[in-house]
Amino acid sequence: MKENQNRVPLIEALDAFNEKEPALFCIPGHRAERGVPETLLQRFGEAVFGYDLTEAEGLDDLHSANGAIREAQELLAELYGAEKGWFVVNGSTAAVEAMIMAAAGPGEKILAARNIHKSALSGLILSGAEPVWLPCEYDSEWKVAGGIKASDVEKMIQEYPEVKAVFLVSPTYYGVNSELKAIAEVCHQHGLPLLVDAAHGSHLRFGSMLPEDAVSAGADLTAMSFHKTAGAMTQASVLLYRPEKETVTGTDEETGEEFVKEKKKEYIDIEKLEAALKITQSSSPSYVLMASLDAARQQLALHGEEMIREAAEMAMDLRRALEQTPGIRVLGGSDAAELLERGIDATRVTFRAEGISGVRLKERLFDEGQALEMADDENVVAVITAGNTSQDILKLSMAVWSASNGAEEKEEKPLFDLSVIPEAAMTPRDAYFAPKEKIGIRQAEGRICGTFLCPYPPGTPVVVPGEILTGPVIEFLTFCRDSNIPMHGWQEDGTIEVVKQEKAG
Ligand SMILES: Cc1ncc(COP(=O)(O)O)c(C=O)c1O
Repeated sequence: MKENQNRVPLIEALDAFNEKEPALFCIPGHRAERGVPETLLQRFGEAVFGYDLTEAEGLDDLHSANGAIREAQELLAELYGAEKGWFVVNGSTAAVEAMIMAAAGPGEKILAARNIHKSALSGLILSGAEPVWLPCEYDSEWKVAGGIKASDVEKMIQEYPEVKAVFLVSPTYYGVNSELKAIAEVCHQHGLPLLVDAAHGSHLRFGSMLPEDAVSAGADLTAMSFHKTAGAMTQASVLLYRPEKETVTGTDEETGEEFVKEKKKEYIDIEKLEAALKITQSSSPSYVLMASLDAARQQLALHGEEMIREAAEMAMDLRRALEQTPGIRVLGGSDAAELLERGIDATRVTFRAEGISGVRLKERLFDEGQALEMADDENVVAVITAGNTSQDILKLSMAVWSASNGAEEKEEKPLFDLSVIPEAAMTPRDAYFAPKEKIGIRQAEGRICGTFLCPYPPGTPVVVPGEILTGPVIEFLTFCRDSNIPMHGWQEDGTIEVVKQEKAG
């Protein structure tokens, strides 16, 4: 670890500003004390408001960083072995949108895995780029998308040589990773950048027993939610840039000496990327969030390996305990070598109980005092971090034991193959801007979807704007909604948005 990773340049700058105790006539209006609503002061305490400043003297500007924020971002990049790093205050959502806007413009194509998060769809709408979908293989038992294979990426690039970039989610919400190193090689052989949504993967770099992180594997751009698996506050994310480098040998014309040099191969226009970040982020980025990024980076630098080792050990304990619980199965099991081989992040524990839906099991677990991250109709997902304790693991294992007890037959689920991609009649952007109307989902068969329809979490759209709604899709979405799975894109009055049809004649 480099010595300067000990530092927290942005927090130091905020402290230096506060030490001067200037009278405040700037934004924010709460003045860090007297203007703070009493209700908040009682609950949050005073300290946090002192850090809730904006671009005052010595505090730099996220959108044109050349002081404390720049230094903090440089430390971030250094920690991940990247060339450049950015703090992102609107979550990985903003980072993903910006990377897509930087990689392709209106009418250009991006090869994207179909299990994208809806933020990538927003990126496509904003940029006007058109998706070429890379199909995902779904594990037929777990109904969870598997990792993307380099051979499939190669095949698709051969078929669509006009694509400008490849975009993947790795790891997924369920902790499944793609073979990123091989995929990065394929992309670079074709002169294409690899963009990775690693919203769930900021911790991977620090765990030798976990799959390789996207930056190390060779991704050109990587988005990571530091609030999901590192210690930052909600919405605090980062974006990292690591261009491909090749070794060049030759002879210096002037001196005649042989040289070996590293040459960068830049597939991303950084000015475009930074311009896009200005669009997708607030012009008043929260210094509380940015300070939390600075501190989370320092924490990972100083203690990351130990933290992630502890988290992985606890997660393995949980996996073993769950496997011994009657009727419970765990995605990837509890063999560390096998998990690694399959590219599954051990700290993301996806499990299911016989006879009970994932959503119902999650509800029962909450009644037992356990708040789990996510559930779908089959599975429940637990996220284990160094913030957990062995006691937590024990309590969760016991709660799963009692919550999964007592037969409660699952509802019969409509057969639906998630790997079948609905036919597109329009691009996501054209459908988004087209005139629309709201109709009941049961009347929507054959109509062009005007919105994202996705169970949330995980936020992977089943149908995206511009695709044609089919009977099986409608059945599946109705089943999800009837099973109490939160659904984005479905209005409270039971309608969905579809593209308005031209009246005949
Ligand atoms: C795969 C994936 N990508 C991107 C995001 C967006 O991240 P954020 O919540 O940091 O905006 C999420 C959020 O859950 C996600 O699951």
